Formats: sequence, structure tokens, C-alpha cells
Amino acid sequence: MRKYAFHAETDGVVGLTNLGVGGLSMFYDTEEPLKGKNAFIEKSIDRKETIMSIKSVLIIGSGLMGSGIAQVCAQAGIQVMLHDVSAASLEKSKKNIIWSVGKFVEKGKLTEDKDTILNRISFIQAIKPGLDPNLAIEAVFEDIDIKRDIFKTLDKNCGPGTLIASNTSAIPITELAAATGRPEKVLGLHFFSPVPMMMAVEVIKGMLTADATAQIGKSFVEQIGKTPIMVNRDVAGFVINRINMPASMEAMRLVEEGVASVEDIDKGLKLASGRKMGIFETGDMVGLDVTYGALMAMYQETGDPRWYPPLLLRRKVKAGHLGRKTGKGWYDYEK
Ligand SMILES: NC(=O)c1ccc[n+]([C@@H]2O[C@H](COP(=O)([O-])OP(=O)(O)OC[C@H]3O[C@@H](n4cnc5c(N)ncnc54)[C@H](O)[C@@H]3O)[C@@H](O)[C@H]2O)c1
Repeated sequence: MRKYAFHAETDGVVGLTNLGVGGLSMFYDTEEPLKGKNAFIEKSIDRKETIMSIKSVLIIGSGLMGSGIAQVCAQAGIQVMLHDVSAASLEKSKKNIIWSVGKFVEKGKLTEDKDTILNRISFIQAIKPGLDPNLAIEAVFEDIDIKRDIFKTLDKNCGPGTLIASNTSAIPITELAAATGRPEKVLGLHFFSPVPMMMAVEVIKGMLTADATAQIGKSFVEQIGKTPIMVNRDVAGFVINRINMPASMEAMRLVEEGVASVEDIDKGLKLASGRKMGIFETGDMVGLDVTYGALMAMYQETGDPRWYPPLLLRRKVKAGHLGRKTGKGWYDYEK
């Protein structure tokens, strides 16, 4: 089988060193072999198989998702910069990652020692010009204005080769890409929580995302030991949330109408459908504000009233009952 060597420079352009192959439209529009000190893709492929490796990742937002993504990247041997505007969030993230990696090591699930993995993560409070990660992943609050500002900052401060991804639950990738001058290098990488445990990651193409970018996204997800779910069109809620959200909203309405309790619905779902966690237990882990933000994004995008957040969810968010992170949500963790 013929093999072709690929090289990618920091400008992210991928080229063939041995041309003459048709149908490789997933690569960017150059046929020149490229070399560079920061080349991050330098492996061989044949017609069917592409192997690419990401060596450095910048993660924006060190909350539940950003911390989990940082951890799984470091466990896969990738250098990680984890950024947050909040020093308290970075501190909490550090503690959580140390604890979680420790648990994996204790259970014999990782071959490397704890310090080797942890030393790959640096915690940074400022994004300065000259950063040149292969991939930046944004995981801040589900708020389009904050996210667009971050995309602008990343576009300005990262080298032209950096791919920029969002972990948004529902905001259209095309809208975030429009805040940059590199929409073809922007994609969605939608992880599920808890990130170290959940195996699926949606890889989402915005309207202008290049095929090559989606392919690198897919390959990155495999590199970190997870399974890519390819989402070919940038629809609100993507795939998994489009399926899961209606069930969550129906469960909330049943509680609202006094038909059944939070506890009984969770118990029933676990026993009747083999789920490990009930819908409300998951909701508390995810954060009620995150679910609210995702539903509002879907509602605003489609104008379809079926996505409008149920009353009980709206009230709980207003009351600050956001789930585990605030001590109260669907359940009371302060009792
Ligand atoms: N929670 C989930 O289960 C889940 C699942 C899939 C996707 N998501 C999505 O992931 C994203 C993050 O969710 P989360 O649950 O980790 O939120 P979180 O509230 O736990 O963390 C968000 C972090 O972003 C930081 N932040 C806010 N503005 C910032 C800025 N301008 N610059 C840098 N950092 C900033 C905050 O300080 C905070 O630490 C959201 O878009 C959410 O929809 C969440």
C-alpha cells in the first residue's frame, strides 16, 4: 500500500510530500510539501487512513468541562495550557484534576505516573500574543457574547495554524467562527460530562469549516481515546442534545405539574432504562444554568417554542439553584 507523508506547519496548512493521489479533499488547498519546527502532523497515511497528532492544546475556561478536557488531553500525552480569568476557578480546577488523575492512577487505569501527567498542564491567567497551540478549545459560560469575544482574542493571539474549537452545548459554530478571520479552521468539539468518563465527543462542522479541520478534529478525539460522533451540519443543539433535551424538559414539566417527584422520576428512569444516573442527577452535575443556556440558544436559533425552558428551570436558575456547584438544584446537597 502506498504511503504519503504529511507535514503541517504552524499556519495549519497540510501538504503532501508525495502527490498524485486523487480524492484527498480533506486537506487544505496546497500541494507543496511543508516543513516547520513546530510541525504537528508528520505521520504517514494511505488512501484510507489518516493519522494526525495534536501536540499542544490551549483550553479557555477551567470550569467543569475545561478541567475535564485538560485532564484527558494531558493523560493522552498532550501539552496543555489551561486559561481562566478567575484565579479561584484555576485553583479549584487544579485540585480537581490532581484528585481525578490520582483516582485513575490508583485504579491502574493509566500507565504513566501522576506527576508526569500533571506536569503537562500549565495554568495561566492571561492570554498573551505569540501563543501557538495546535488547537484551542473554548469552554466558558454558555453566552454567545463572551464566546465571540474569546474567539476574537484567540484569533488575534494564536498563530495562523491554530485550529479553534468550541465546547458549546448549542450555540451555532458558524456564529462563533464569524468572529475570527479563519472560519475554515473553526469547529465544534462537544464533550460530555464527566469528561474523563464519557466516551463520546461530537465533532461539529460549521458552514465554513474545512473538511480538513473536521478530519483533524476527528483524529484528535481518537488520539485522546474517545469516540467521535460526526455532526455534518451546524444545527442548534447538534445531535445528542436534540435527542436528550426533550426528555429532560418533559421530566421537568412532570415535576412542575405535580405528577411525580424528582426522586421517583430518577429512580424510575434508572430502573426502567438502565441509566446509571437519573435525568435530574445528571442535570445537577451539568448545571441548571448550562441547560438553561443551551435551551435558550436552541430557542433563539430556531424560534421554535418547544425549546423554551420550562418554568421550573427558569425559576431555579433565577434563584441561584444551579446544581452541585451551588449546593442546591434539583436535589439539596446541603442537607
Ligand atoms: N456542564 C456540562 O455538563 C456541559 C456539557 C457539555 C458542554 N458544556 C458547555 O461547556 C461550556 C462550559 O461549561 P462548564 O459547565 O464547564 O461551565 P463552568 O461554569 O463550570 O465553567 C466556566 C468557566 O469559564 C470561565 N470564564 C468565564 N468567562 C471567561 C472568560 N472571558 N475568559 C476565560 N474564562 C472565562 C469561568 O471563570 C469558569 O471557570 C459551556 O459552553 C457549556 O454549555 C457543558
